[in-house]
Amino acid sequence: MWDYTDKLKEHFFNPRNVGEIENPDGVGEVGSLACGDALKLTFKLDKTGRIKDAKFKTFGCASAIATSSVLTEMIKGKTLDEAAKVTNKDIADYLGGLPEQKMHCSVMGREALEAAIENYRTGGKKKRELEGRIVCTCFGVTEKEIQRVVRENDLTTVEQVTNYCKAGGGCGGCQGEIEKIIERVQGEKTKVVPALVPRRAEKLTNIQKIQLIQQTINEQIRPALRAHGGNIELIDVEGNKVIVAFRGMCAQCMLTEFTMKDVVEAKLREFVDDELFVEEDKDSAQQPHNHRE
Ligand code: FES
Repeated sequence: MWDYTDKLKEHFFNPRNVGEIENPDGVGEVGSLACGDALKLTFKLDKTGRIKDAKFKTFGCASAIATSSVLTEMIKGKTLDEAAKVTNKDIADYLGGLPEQKMHCSVMGREALEAAIENYRTGGKKKRELEGRIVCTCFGVTEKEIQRVVRENDLTTVEQVTNYCKAGGGCGGCQGEIEKIIERVQGEKTKVVPALVPRRAEKLTNIQKIQLIQQTINEQIRPALRAHGGNIELIDVEGNKVIVAFRGMCAQCMLTEFTMKDVVEAKLREFVDDELFVEEDKDSAQQPHNHRE
């Protein structure tokens, strides 16, 4: 059973703005029934160029319906430039969060909105066209889309990419390619981040501490685990407790306890704070991905 927020359940049981606007100004369609979910978004503008009305038709799970409902509520009253700034993270945040495996529903909403705005501005196709090279042929996901979800949501594992855009969740043949895309995008980011130096004496704010923990994981810990087919994800930070989840080979490894203390905890103490201690989040152990819920 998925851990849905009350707000998500409320939008699922009482979805707003269901249907299709007659003579809409913009129409955007994404997804396909063959892939398990599809979304059609229509909107109408008022005389000042603001979105007066927006409606959706969705085929999919509870998250797909709730995210579509919320999206139509969020964009009403906005100009198209303002609406175009709504991200999939904004949609998920509005709902108080989405199960990680359902983040692709929020991405689908954002893509439908972009397609509808494009349709209004250029009079082009309503159905979103795939741009660039297709990496995942099972779900028709391009390199550009994968780069975008990785960049915007700071994704670090293939499993996360699958959760956000489905790529990699079919035959698995594209997973090596996705791994390389993640490395490239994350590599670009670390170029602009100042190099890590062993921790200094001054006190860090909570935000600085979390950023430094993430940076240490990205630069000092993850490369070592990846060399052995494993990976690690930062789940949460509570005071000095750092909660992580192991992925890939690390998730099945008998030496996880050793890795946690002698690699992860040691590096975090060296680069962030020597009072940090690490715990594994057993709840976030890998779950099978289910495209149709
Ligand atoms: S090609 Fe991506 S899962 Fe099959």
